[in-house]
Amino acid sequence: MPELAYVNGEVMPIDQAYVPVEDRGYQFGDAAYEFLASYNGSIFAMDAHLDRLERSLSALAFEPIDRDLVRNAIATTFEQAGYARAGIYVQVSRGVAPRNHAFPAGTPPQIVITVRPVPQVAETLLQNGANAITVTDIRWDRCDIKTVQLLPNALAKQQALNAGANDAIFVSKEGIVREGTASNLFIATPDGLLTHPLTPNILPGITRAVLIDLCRNQGISVQEAFFDQDALLRANEVFLTGTVTEVLPVSRVNGQAIADGKPGPWSRKLLEMLRQAAGA
Ligand code: PDD
Repeated sequence: MPELAYVNGEVMPIDQAYVPVEDRGYQFGDAAYEFLASYNGSIFAMDAHLDRLERSLSALAFEPIDRDLVRNAIATTFEQAGYARAGIYVQVSRGVAPRNHAFPAGTPPQIVITVRPVPQVAETLLQNGANAITVTDIRWDRCDIKTVQLLPNALAKQQALNAGANDAIFVSKEGIVREGTASNLFIATPDGLLTHPLTPNILPGITRAVLIDLCRNQGISVQEAFFDQDALLRANEVFLTGTVTEVLPVSRVNGQAIADGKPGPWSRKLLEMLRQAAGA
């Protein structure tokens, strides 16, 4: 089955897809994106992703885009690719224009979609838990907008890999634990689950929202409140959540074991709840 790309209305094999050099996404990071996944041939939480894309574009002062056009483009490309478990990347840039910081007038947005199998989280990682390091959050003040400006995330991820860890956790200069490089973060405490509140300093993750809803419907306490690195290290469990990550236990942070250094029951339970809700 082919890995496919959609570029402004045309679907083609991914290696034949190009964007012009003066695309503002390429020169200015002037683009928003989404990453969706399918389970068993159905795209999970499509509307929530479209809502967030619209919020991102509106926060970046884009003209509103045609929601049905984007939805159909995603559905068509996904169906043509034919993967049961696809990862779908959607990027909308402010368009192609001679390089100039000011917004171009009357330039249509460029819509690019790619569809390929979703990178699977290794079973050994689920069983043993991931190793994470903490890094200072050097990102901007609007991490709630899903822009393609991901250099701090890429640098932090590579720093983690170079240190022999799997991922990095952003901690603010004031010591507040924010999120992972491509995931939100939860901890389990004796009082229940805890995650960073929705502020401009984290991405409002779809997986985070789905899990909070599922938990609250089942009477499981989830608090959205700030916590620091001490609380992270003293937690009963730490786990990351995201479209690719699903629910990934973290068993070591900065080389220090979380609780007994083994994944706990909450991350496993939430992974099962998520997969069930997604029709896995
Ligand atoms: N990233 N926080 C950040 C910084 C992210 O980049 C992501 C997702 C999340 C989780 O959001 P969601 O549950 O909606 O996937 C949190 C995607 C997967 C990516 O960049 O590929």
